[in-house]
Amino acid sequence: MIRLADYREPDFFIDEVWLDVRLHPTDTHVRSRLAIRPNPVMGEAPLELDGEKLTLHAVSIDGEALSPTDYTLNPERLIIHKPPRQPFTLEVETTCDPEANTELSGLYRSNGIYCTQCEAEGFRRITYFIDRPDILATFTTRIEAEQADAPVLLSNGNPVEAALLENGRPFAVWHDPYPKPCYLFALVAGTLAHVEDHFTTASGREVILRIYVEPGKEDRCAWAMDSLKRAMRWDEEAFGREYDLDMFMIVAVPDFNMGAMENKGLNIFNDKYILARPDTATDADYAHIESIIAHEYFHNWTGNRVTCRDWFQLCLKEGLTVFRDQEFTTATRSGIAKRIADVRLLRSQQFPEDAGPLAHPVRPSQYMEINNFYTATVYEKGAEIIRMLRALIGRDAFRSGMDLYFARHDGQAATVEQFLACMADASGRDLGQFQRWYEQAGTPEVTIATAYDPAARTFTINAGQATRPTPDQSVKQPLVIPLALGLVDASGGDMPLRTASGTNTPNLLELSEPAQSWTFIDIDERPVPSLNRGFSAPIRLKTDLSDADWLFLMGHDPDPFNRWEAGQIYAKRLLLSLTQACVEGRRLWDASDYSEALRSSLRASSLTAQLKAELLNLPSEPDLASEIGRNVEPVAIHAARQHLAAYLGRTLREDLEEAYQTGAVPGPYTPDPDSAGRRSLRAAALTLLAAGNRDEGARLALDQFRAGSNMTEIFSGLAVLARLDCLQRDEALAEFYERAKGDHLLVDKWLSLHALGPFPSTIARVRRLMEHPAFSLRKPNKVRALIGTFAAANPVAFNDRSGQGYQLLADILVALDPINPQVAARIAGNFKSWRMLEPNRQRLAGSEIDRVRSSSNLSRDLTEILSMIASNPLPAMD
Ligand code: TRP
Ligand code: ZN
Repeated sequence: MIRLADYREPDFFIDEVWLDVRLHPTDTHVRSRLAIRPNPVMGEAPLELDGEKLTLHAVSIDGEALSPTDYTLNPERLIIHKPPRQPFTLEVETTCDPEANTELSGLYRSNGIYCTQCEAEGFRRITYFIDRPDILATFTTRIEAEQADAPVLLSNGNPVEAALLENGRPFAVWHDPYPKPCYLFALVAGTLAHVEDHFTTASGREVILRIYVEPGKEDRCAWAMDSLKRAMRWDEEAFGREYDLDMFMIVAVPDFNMGAMENKGLNIFNDKYILARPDTATDADYAHIESIIAHEYFHNWTGNRVTCRDWFQLCLKEGLTVFRDQEFTTATRSGIAKRIADVRLLRSQQFPEDAGPLAHPVRPSQYMEINNFYTATVYEKGAEIIRMLRALIGRDAFRSGMDLYFARHDGQAATVEQFLACMADASGRDLGQFQRWYEQAGTPEVTIATAYDPAARTFTINAGQATRPTPDQSVKQPLVIPLALGLVDASGGDMPLRTASGTNTPNLLELSEPAQSWTFIDIDERPVPSLNRGFSAPIRLKTDLSDADWLFLMGHDPDPFNRWEAGQIYAKRLLLSLTQACVEGRRLWDASDYSEALRSSLRASSLTAQLKAELLNLPSEPDLASEIGRNVEPVAIHAARQHLAAYLGRTLREDLEEAYQTGAVPGPYTPDPDSAGRRSLRAAALTLLAAGNRDEGARLALDQFRAGSNMTEIFSGLAVLARLDCLQRDEALAEFYERAKGDHLLVDKWLSLHALGPFPSTIARVRRLMEHPAFSLRKPNKVRALIGTFAAANPVAFNDRSGQGYQLLADILVALDPINPQVAARIAGNFKSWRMLEPNRQRLAGSEIDRVRSSSNLSRDLTEILSMIASNPLPAMD
């Protein structure tokens, strides 16, 4: 276990790195020269260098070869017993095998392209190094290869030299003048094509922009390039941040453990988040590309220029950078739709994480394997913390705090405390209590009780907060919770907010005690409170509002986000009682109030198509499951959700058909928010229509699939069919394969569609597809498309009462772990909510988890995740 409390400064610093890399598919030679200096504040110590899966050939200090007695070598480290007490130069020669690297960490070869992934601890698989983020060095990298193998040779920074040697071998030299931790090192080489563009920064620096792709894919880079230029401009305008090198490069590779990586000047992307053409990518793909391009680009300041002192501070770069990419999307597309999408993600991924055995603080205090902590909590809840901070101190102070952070910590490896100190200094506010958000796991529950006093003309809000125990912490402290508030009058307007104590407009309540109350004066009628507007705090809210209040807010809240939220809350109430009815085999029920509210929203000319689509999308099954919390029957949740969808499909039929027709966007495809919003509305309408009438839905969906002129239309038709138990389903999937084969991203879509069918037979189908030539455990995108979709997006089949869904996931984990432990650990997370299940499924899932845990030679990654998952159930809150 690595602990934050054990952090110590490094014994040595490395100021400069020269790498000389001779690429070879199975025997790559690396010579490294390091300028090392003992840390004056630390005592005498041996020099411990991290290294994994390396073959050591030579090691010397200041030109003198070391003898084997001067050092100790073990599978994880090279320890030099008595290094000089003065600055010195260390030279090390090693070899590694990129072809054998199935973990995709360090230097690996993917589809004939050499590429690196060094975050978090992959650099040690390239050469011996002090592999921790508080070692900042400038890098000069020389790469040499065979012309046929790798004519294009890339690394971080600016190009210094590139030519052919006399023997015809190409070489290139790159220099990155900005000191950086080794996790930001990158090297890419191979036969790559590129598209090029230019950007002039606000201060006039000319930057060459390049996107490198597999030859033949150049016509799928336009959207990524466009997104990049817009992101660069936005960071200048919104945060005053300019790009700082002569060149910015992006490389797209098909095999990658995560979405993308922010290596200095040389971002590497999973090609699924670069390549897009109207006939290959959906609106969702376009949106992902735009926000991930922005995210990685924004890391240049939040992550690279200011980096992290240690991996416990991961949220310092990730939460902040997610916040920045969310803001970018908000500014460039529909802000409401973006907020809704982010809140959905938080509720369906982060809340369940925070409520189960994998719960951890946004800044964890211990870990076994850091790769396991690139989580929804660190990223998404981390971004919510930044958003709350801005709400509390105000936009201007927040911007000054950011400026101060960049000014004070440029070129440094910083901590969360240092970031908060900048915000405290800029705002004059004590953030001591606020810091608990970083240190305390679990989703706070806020309980609201309201009272209207017509005689005194006052309205009082009584609020309480509590956070349930999590496996790592049994006692929780109160947090600072910013609750954005409006009091809505009968005509749907916001009342002026006045309290007895002041003349200010307290539309942001700050709940910082276990219990607190606020009284508003001059209130002439009972208002309906609209609370936590815009999801101002990531909490679970329990209120005394009635069904009628929620319906009212759904139709009248001046805050559009809370209109959507009210609809979700109302739907959740319906679905929870309906789930209970399904469990008990009852089925009586009326939801006409809800369908009528939806009908008037659909007819409202003031609402955008996108918002209407969001209103029609029911709360997700994981969201409902975590709301229920225990003794969960996933099939009943699904049945209840289907039942409500079918009811809406029937009662709203004409309106939905109308929405379906008007949602058709004529003309050539463009990814703009308006057109995308209309297509979402069409898809949402189709989903409900198909739930209401299977045969008609299947016909519509098949027509849309066949006639669709862009991938969004084609895919959304197919996605409806894939979930229907109908003949057209296999027919359409087979047709889609004919179009998809030969295009690996489309094949991923095809695989995922098979995994979505909410029927027991999907389990056997997924097993069969694992034998398909397109599937491979060595390709993370294939594993995520087929297995990830099955386990994360198909609660019915995954939780089949036979236990065969759990068995399937367990079999994959056993087979995948020796190949790629990072990806294995990530998909193992799909077992995280097993303790919430009803007893029979709990037993079945538990025994599969045990089976995997008892297999031999489990990776550290999977060992840690499964032991957390299997840990004792949480104590209940009394
Ligand atoms: N830092 C990357 C990001 O932008 C995340 C990442 C990419 C990563 N590849 C990784 C994390 C491999 C761990 C391992 O969010
Ligand atoms: Zn990131």
